Amino acid sequence: MKKKLIAGNWKMNGGLAANEALIRNLLAGLGTPGCQVALCVPTAYLAQCHDLLNGTGIDLGAQDVSQHEAGAFTGEISCAMLKEFGARYCLVGHSERRQYHAETDTVVALKAQRALASGITPIVCVGETLAEREAGRTEEVVKRQLAAVIHANGHCISEIVLAYEPVWAIGTGKTASAEQAQQVHAVLRAQLKAASSQSDRILLLYGGSMNPVNAAQLLAQADIDGGLIGGASLKAPDFLSIIASAG
Ligand code: PGA
Repeated sequence: MKKKLIAGNWKMNGGLAANEALIRNLLAGLGTPGCQVALCVPTAYLAQCHDLLNGTGIDLGAQDVSQHEAGAFTGEISCAMLKEFGARYCLVGHSERRQYHAETDTVVALKAQRALASGITPIVCVGETLAEREAGRTEEVVKRQLAAVIHANGHCISEIVLAYEPVWAIGTGKTASAEQAQQVHAVLRAQLKAASSQSDRILLLYGGSMNPVNAAQLLAQADIDGGLIGGASLKAPDFLSIIASAG
């Protein structure tokens, strides 16, 4: 059976002292986890977190990457740079990037492609807004977002991690019920199956206000292979508790 993945997304939070304290507390309480664990940290802290996490049971991830290889793209970070700091994962297409940085399905697909070509596992995020859910468009939206990534990546699609994050559940304290989440995960799983004979290996994470109280029920669903954790990943006891639920 494939091991679940619990990935923290620190977003634009942290500081040198706070990061070190958080990572030391996580490592002190981690033991031998029954799942894979990763932290997606702000770019500015990749070097620090690489030093602190190197050789431990926690993998390092970034939160975004350029779709370009190198060159005149002021402010952007390349996959090669992420690799130098030992990043194994990179979030791609998080709803905050789609919403505040106008990332289109096409850009997200190119970023995933660039990451895969560089040996970084993209954690591709899809999810509907509240208005889209209320209009009955959830399936249509997530399928369209995933289709762009499948189209650009062909058979390599089996190398991605996919995260379903309903936008209305992110940072709001409103979680999708386990049934709501499973329903969408099943749709995404079927879409991946149709695209690749290797789709069984793809981890499908749920994200959106996952916390120590609701994690076990979400993680028990047939098509939920882990979690992408924002707020709760900033508190060592909460993140450790979610990791324990995934074991
Ligand atoms: P949240 O964020 O857990 O704070 O809702 C999840 C995410 O945006 O990845």
